[in-house]
Amino acid sequence: MLKIAVAKGRIAEKVSELLLYTSDYRDIIDLNSRKLVFVDKNKEIVFFLAKPSDVPVYVGSGAADIGIVGKDVLMEAKDSAYEIMDLKTCRCRIVLAGPSGKSGVRPIVRKVATKYPRIASEYFNRKSESVEIIKLDGSIELAPIVGLSDAIVDIVETGNTLRENGLVVYENICDITARMIVNRVSYKMKNKSINIFASAVSEAIEGGGANAQSAVMG
Ligand code: PRP
Repeated sequence: MLKIAVAKGRIAEKVSELLLYTSDYRDIIDLNSRKLVFVDKNKEIVFFLAKPSDVPVYVGSGAADIGIVGKDVLMEAKDSAYEIMDLKTCRCRIVLAGPSGKSGVRPIVRKVATKYPRIASEYFNRKSESVEIIKLDGSIELAPIVGLSDAIVDIVETGNTLRENGLVVYENICDITARMIVNRVSYKMKNKSINIFASAVSEAIEGGGANAQSAVMG
C-alpha cells in the first residue's frame, strides 16, 4: 500500500481538488469529514492528513512513502527531504514585513518574530545583520502591533492579513510552492507505484489542475 502524508489546511484543499483531475485518485479524500485517514476501495493507497511541519517527519521515518507539503516547511525542517516534484500550486512567498513607515525605506530591524527561525536567521546572516529572532507559532502579525518585535518574517498568500493589520512588505525573501517528497527507501522499494502516482499528479497539473485550483481558491 502506498502511504501519502498531505499537509492539512490549504495544501490538502488544493491537493484534493487537483486529484479530481486524475481518474484513479479522485473521491478518496473527503475534507468535509473529521477523518484523518482515507483509504481507496482497492486498499492500494492511503492518504493521511498531518500538521504541515510533521509531514517531513512522517516521510523521513517511513511512516509515509510520499509527502505533499510547502517548500517553506522543507526549508525550515532539520533533515533534508528527497524532493521529486514542484506541484506549482499553493503559490505564496516568504517576506520580511512590518509597520508601514517612510515609503521606500526599510526601518532598522532589531527584533523579528517568525514561525520560520531558520529561514529568518539565514536571511539576516546573508545580509550580515545581527537580529534577535523570536519564535512564535501563529498569528505572527500580532507581534509588531503589540511591540513584541519590529518586524516579522512570514508567509504571504493574498496579502490580506498584512493589509488588515496595517503591515507592509519590506522585502521578498523567497517564493514558495507545494512540493512532493519521498522516503528514500520507499523510492527504491515502491518505485513503480510512486512513479504512477507522481505521473498522475503531474498530468493533472499539466491539464490545468494547478491553475484551476488557484482560481477556485482565489
Ligand atoms: C498564514 C500566515 C499569515 C497568513 C497569510 O497564517 O502566517 O498569517 O497565512 O495569508 P494571506 O496573505 O492570504 O492573508 P495561517 O493561516 O497559516 O495561520 P497562523 O497565523 O495560525 O499560522
